[in-house]
Amino acid sequence: MEYPVFELSYLGSNTLIAIIAIIHVVISHGGAVGGSIFLVWTEYLAYKRGDRDMDDYARRFLSVILIVTTTVGALTGVGIWFAVATGQPASIGSLLRVFFWAWFTEWIAFIAEVVLLIIYYYTWRPVGHAKKRRHIFIGVSYAAAAWVSMFIITGVLAAMLTPGNWLVTRSFWDAFVNPTWLPSLFFRTAVATGLAAGFALLFALFAVKGEDARRRLASYAGRWLLWSAAFIVPTGIWYLARVPEQARALLVWASGFINYNTFVLMNTAGALVIVLTALAAIRKKPRISGVMALIVILISSFYIGEMEMIREKIRKPYVVYGYMYANGIRVEDMARINKDGILNQAKWSTVKQVNGDNMLAAGREVYTLQCSSCHTLNGWNSRRDIVAITRGWPERAIDGYIANLNTFRYFMPPFCGTEAEREALSAWIYSLQKNERLVQK
Ligand code: HEC
Repeated sequence: MEYPVFELSYLGSNTLIAIIAIIHVVISHGGAVGGSIFLVWTEYLAYKRGDRDMDDYARRFLSVILIVTTTVGALTGVGIWFAVATGQPASIGSLLRVFFWAWFTEWIAFIAEVVLLIIYYYTWRPVGHAKKRRHIFIGVSYAAAAWVSMFIITGVLAAMLTPGNWLVTRSFWDAFVNPTWLPSLFFRTAVATGLAAGFALLFALFAVKGEDARRRLASYAGRWLLWSAAFIVPTGIWYLARVPEQARALLVWASGFINYNTFVLMNTAGALVIVLTALAAIRKKPRISGVMALIVILISSFYIGEMEMIREKIRKPYVVYGYMYANGIRVEDMARINKDGILNQAKWSTVKQVNGDNMLAAGREVYTLQCSSCHTLNGWNSRRDIVAITRGWPERAIDGYIANLNTFRYFMPPFCGTEAEREALSAWIYSLQKNERLVQK
């Protein structure tokens, strides 16, 4: 309630965050983290085996990673900051108080990563060069910086779902070393190398000249794919086991699949396609086309998107589990707001008190403060569109529903504010049925 509310009534600010975040995660995991590990190892092997084709392949693949991670990757990274700071300012405020030095360190790691990446690319030494070992060492430092950056940011992300003992102790280390931090870190590492292997496979098939070298390198990338898949499964199970019971119950709903069986079937089918493609690539005479590699990349990107969506959605009704609701209201402030009202405490609200004349304007403000972080007005997703989901409901039913939001659907925060504010909100939502113009402020 300290900040103005940035409302995207059609798209939803949460959807904006999700779009930017998914692009960023695909690039940061597949390109920066997984790509750097893959490349350094490939360069090292090429050096040991004296394999010029392999060395050349790694160098050219690095040029793609250099361009993509320092442009789209970096831009979407900053984009996430803009999107969350405007869409979820209260939660970013809280996280910044707890994780200030962690973020500070992460930025240093990120700058180191980019600087090392540039040095790594522009000082690439061919196989046989006297300074090759030194060059590989730069690559190792680059991969380490990229991984450390993920190591830190995963602590923050995981703490939002499982803040653990921090809820009691309020200690930084309890927040950082939280129950899902390590499992999600290893899971992400495996996903990152898997995605990088998918890109590497595609790159081998399209960009390597010479039938023999192409087969060899495709088979090499296929092996990476298989190994990564083998690590994704146990780390994923470990991660899931650490997720709170209530959140785990939302898993299938959060994935967007209609039921449990479809969820399991689709995900298993995707994994099977990846494993079969990897096996096809590994064969002595690989039987694999660029289309297959592209499909592997699409499926892996879908998995990453799905993982992020699930992680974000199963956290509902909270943004920081047990501490702050998704609409930025802290659990500990609820009692006070119920007594004193929300409008007079919301710094940017134009209405401070509900009276007979301003019911609709007051209701609009209450909606903005409490519902707009998840709901839209005539928005793209009809299940989130407040107009569509309450169409045909009598005003009393709306009011009765809002009074029990969290008991009907436990992924919604309870309504908070005075009775008059709740009635104003119900009146405003009801008014949308008759006069869609009122949707606009
Ligand atoms: C944390 C996010 C979140 C917040 C905040 C939130 N909702 Fe919801 N709400 C949801 C989700 C998710 C659904 C269900 C969508 C679906 O069925 O997939 C929903 C569904 C609803 C429904 C339809 C329920 C049904 O059973 O069909 C109503 C009405 C509703 N919300 C009203 C509100 C009002 C009013 C507020 C503000 C006081 C609010 N919600 C705040 C997430 C939220």
